[in-house]
Amino acid sequence: MIRVNPNYSKLQASYLFSTIARKVSEFQAGNPDKDIIKLGIGDVTHGLPPACIDAMHKAVDEMAVDGTFRGYGPEQGYDFLREAIAQRDFASRGVDIAAEEVFVSDGAKCDSGNIQELFAQDARIAVPDPVYPVYVDTNVMAGRTGEWQDGRYSGLVYLESTEDNHYVPGLPSEPVDLIYLCFPNNPTGATVTHDELKTWVDYARANKALILFDAAYEAFIRDDSLPHSIYEVEGAKEVAVEFRSFSKTAGFTGTRCAYTIVPHACRVFDGSGNAQELHALWNRRHTTKFNGVSYPVQRAAEAVFSADGQAQITALNDGYLRNAAHIREQVSALGYSFAGGENSPYIWIKTGEDSWDFFDRLLNEAAVVTTPGAGFGACGQGYIRISAFNDFAKVEEAMQRIAGVLGK
Ligand code: MLT
Repeated sequence: MIRVNPNYSKLQASYLFSTIARKVSEFQAGNPDKDIIKLGIGDVTHGLPPACIDAMHKAVDEMAVDGTFRGYGPEQGYDFLREAIAQRDFASRGVDIAAEEVFVSDGAKCDSGNIQELFAQDARIAVPDPVYPVYVDTNVMAGRTGEWQDGRYSGLVYLESTEDNHYVPGLPSEPVDLIYLCFPNNPTGATVTHDELKTWVDYARANKALILFDAAYEAFIRDDSLPHSIYEVEGAKEVAVEFRSFSKTAGFTGTRCAYTIVPHACRVFDGSGNAQELHALWNRRHTTKFNGVSYPVQRAAEAVFSADGQAQITALNDGYLRNAAHIREQVSALGYSFAGGENSPYIWIKTGEDSWDFFDRLLNEAAVVTTPGAGFGACGQGYIRISAFNDFAKVEEAMQRIAGVLGK
């Protein structure tokens, strides 16, 4: 008899963004004439940068000819892309990351979800609250939690990110082995300073813990004082893995390309306390379960680092940040308090009422999709997240409609 993984029964009925997509489809089916504006899931709306498209076209042509055709590539990514990442995303900021410490993949979602399988079943895990649901759900699936009670899973340590701590959680009050952090944060849009990040790195070094640092939104940082990478903090290479993505940076949500940095210096420990290189373990997993990102997509990602590519992605992301500034202005004019939207595409708004009720009101009365804060954790109750990923005209219209509903 084939039995199911019992941990799946602990999960909420569906993934947050699937639940929202279902609600939106039902609303659209009942209101076929309504023009719904989506400011929910952080999905980009603009075409890929021309430099990427040119590189992709060229690579597609190479694939048509026997002499330049490529079959299986290296699972970890082609050297041309790994080198470009090491040089342009790290060396240029004074961070020494070797090309072979870069693992190219098809998404930060997959990597941040998959990496937990390298750690012991009884690893004590700390997650922010509110949190990107992938970090939690993948540990639930793996059996590292108890049941869901009152909006939380027993067995996890929740790091509360609230208005009082400016959405940057403090150190845990009980020992933990694995810590998930995300800055600029999804969903709150909060950023972290170098000193705040150093506190976490020092904690991890002192406690032989590991930090999983999700930097998927670093391309939206405009404040020069803020760190783009956890490796800007001394000693972080011993205790941190970093996830990056071309999805939001360069509009690759549908194209799929991301990467994970696992430094050789990064250590994990066996049952006797002997140190092992995490790099070797991730390499083992990656080569067993992943067969690489397609050649044309890796060429497109490489083009992000060309002079044209850099200018184009800056313009693209400046456009999304302009949307974010408009959302902030409008939300402020409506009298709501909020965070984020300055070095981040997300604006986190205190609603003063149940998140899902507020979400439903904006969907049903304004035909605008947002994301209910409660979907990100107990501390998200009473909040909604608005994403700045859309065209400016749509964002303007969405905010007018929202003002019409909330200003009543
Ligand atoms: C979000 O809206 O939180 C993100 O788009 C989710 C993701 O990147 O998987």
